Amino acid sequence: MPSTLPEGEVAPLDGALPESAVREAASRPLGFYLHVPFCASRCGYCDFNTYTARELGGGGSQASYAETAVREVLLARRVLGELDRPVDTVFFGGGTPTLLPAADLGRMLAAVRDEFGLAPDAEVTTEANPESVDPAYLDELRAVGFNRVSFGMQSASSHVLKILDRQHTPGRALQAVKEATAAGFEHVNLDLIYGTPGESLDDWRASLESALSAQPDHVSAYALIVEDGTQLARRIRRGELPMPDDDDLADKYVLADELLSAEGLRWYEVSNWARSTAARCRHNELYWRGDTWWGIGPGAHSHVAGTRWWNVKHPSAYAERLNTNQSPAQARETLDEETRRIERVLLEVRLEAGLPREVLDEPGRAAADQVVEDGLAVMDGDRLVLTDRGRLLADAVVRDLLP
Ligand SMILES: C[S@@+](CC[C@H](N)C(=O)[O-])C[C@H]1O[C@@H](n2cnc3c(N)ncnc32)[C@H](O)[C@@H]1O
Ligand code: SF4
Repeated sequence: MPSTLPEGEVAPLDGALPESAVREAASRPLGFYLHVPFCASRCGYCDFNTYTARELGGGGSQASYAETAVREVLLARRVLGELDRPVDTVFFGGGTPTLLPAADLGRMLAAVRDEFGLAPDAEVTTEANPESVDPAYLDELRAVGFNRVSFGMQSASSHVLKILDRQHTPGRALQAVKEATAAGFEHVNLDLIYGTPGESLDDWRASLESALSAQPDHVSAYALIVEDGTQLARRIRRGELPMPDDDDLADKYVLADELLSAEGLRWYEVSNWARSTAARCRHNELYWRGDTWWGIGPGAHSHVAGTRWWNVKHPSAYAERLNTNQSPAQARETLDEETRRIERVLLEVRLEAGLPREVLDEPGRAAADQVVEDGLAVMDGDRLVLTDRGRLLADAVVRDLLP
């Protein structure tokens, strides 16, 4: 969740949506995102909407968070009144969801299940910091209904973890994967970050090999983004650390794809690799395809058929709204057809399934022909699919396709 919220239009206090949006949502997969805005400590590179106990200063308490979030689930039920379809995916993200007792996460999940119903094959994920779980906690998560867990491993190199301010040892994420598998989780993801100042290509190779040794069925590998306003950005500005270098990032992406593919993890989105179709993150796929999701929690974003809104950012303000029976939405926007088309280009071109050519306008189609001629994409039937080189230049390809 980005921390800088756009301005948008006024959102109604009862959260009501246009009837046409609710009708359209009936025909698309439905997901819930539940944001947990608490962390034990702040990593210097992270600008997600999350708070340490000191930053919270006593407002928006962790102990009452599950109860507050459940109020928003009840609001979602009222607003989506006519929508009659079970939930396909639930994703708890953060922050650090696993800072809360497993029973609290279970309570929030139960509210989604009770109000909407879960599809029999629903994917239910939580993010977890490796040091925030143990076997008993993972057993509890399984017992309350989670079937997928995503660990933030980031790196296997101690000096890289130190620059990132991570609180776990290199080995802890691998142990956590073993514990999750033993607890019966069907799917386990490891998040990795490449391009941290001071990380060599060999460090990155060691991180990939280490992650693969734990045999997760999914890996996300993200280039380190230097977000404005973070401690990392300040350290780079002061000249204490170097800015990530584009050529180094490209070499590391190529290495990631090579090693992950060799171990049977295939890319299905530019930054995501899975061992099988069943191992893909269906919740993220729902975002990339512009389906329906309701984001519960402070700063969370939601989307229903072209109406998008975002909640007030601070946990205290969020709790105050819900405790006085108001929608926590800060503002919203209604996307017109052209904006929805542009978003499809931005997101779908990054998928292995590719972008249907019909989504492009005339200048975009001409640009697509050039992209193919330049070897950055191929046509697979009527879909434009990035080549290996195209994946390295995905952002530039998008700029070409939206002249
Ligand atoms: C915000 S964290 C939440 C999960 C959990 N607290 C953790 O840190 O593992 C989700 C993922 O976002 C990614 N992330 C956060 N900030 C990033 C940044 N500035 N650049 C690249 N990836 C980032 C990390 O890979 C992290 O695992
Ligand atoms: S633990 Fe995760 S959410 Fe919390 S500050 Fe670090 S990266 Fe951000």
